[in-house]
Amino acid sequence: MTNPVQAALMALKEWGVDGTFDYGLVLGTGLGPVADLVHNPVIVPYAQIPGFPKGQVSGHSARVVAGTIGNSRVFVMQGRAHYYEHGDPAIMRTPIETMVALGIKNLILTNAAGSLLEDVPPGALSLITDHINLSGVNPLIGVSDDSRFVPMVDAYDPALRKALKQAAMTAQVILREGVYQWFPGPSFETPAEIRASKMLGATLVGMSTVPEVILARRIGLRVAAISMVTNYGAGLFGGAPSHAETKSVAAEAGEKMKALLEQFFTQL
Ligand code: HPA
Repeated sequence: MTNPVQAALMALKEWGVDGTFDYGLVLGTGLGPVADLVHNPVIVPYAQIPGFPKGQVSGHSARVVAGTIGNSRVFVMQGRAHYYEHGDPAIMRTPIETMVALGIKNLILTNAAGSLLEDVPPGALSLITDHINLSGVNPLIGVSDDSRFVPMVDAYDPALRKALKQAAMTAQVILREGVYQWFPGPSFETPAEIRASKMLGATLVGMSTVPEVILARRIGLRVAAISMVTNYGAGLFGGAPSHAETKSVAAEAGEKMKALLEQFFTQL
């Protein structure tokens, strides 16, 4: 019997993804072009990898791009699966555990997000320092051993955050910091939900990343996450988010994310 991670590893090997990697990098909506940074890429469609996401959200590719960026071997996931696609908060479990089996110790997550701060406008990048998950959904519900009780202090690794801020300075990219509240989606938030979120201390909202962080922390990965702001939260500063806006702003502002990550992987 092969377990899901072994099955994924076997498929990746057949497609030429071999050896170990230093970093995992998950690219969110509209951020697919960041994978152009990868030198000598080996590309594998998720459809060929057991346990990797099969659904499609427009604005997402669905493939692994494995290779080198700067001084690092990076396993890039161009596109992710979301809870709202199938109602499974652990949908990214096999990909994340496969990364660990490939030797990865550090995971960088990116996403498109709404901003709750006027001075963090569409196009801005924000490093996630912490999150709020009051959805009642958690990818570890049903795990029956003590590994489910994952500590979440410094879930967004301070050393990785420091290195990303350093890279942003060198690359002359402004990188803000924020607290991300996860909404399961797929409908956008109501203006009342956004006002509540702001009162609770969130500065960013989005529909991804948080389940991945929880899954990754459970198995000891160090995690960092960067949001690209594509809109103001519903009802704030004229914000009326739509998927079309998310895709178009992300495509534009993706160049900043690219510059930041290129510097990050080069300075290591
Ligand atoms: N809300 C939730 N998810 C999002 C948003 C938003 O405003 N923008 C991009 N993804």
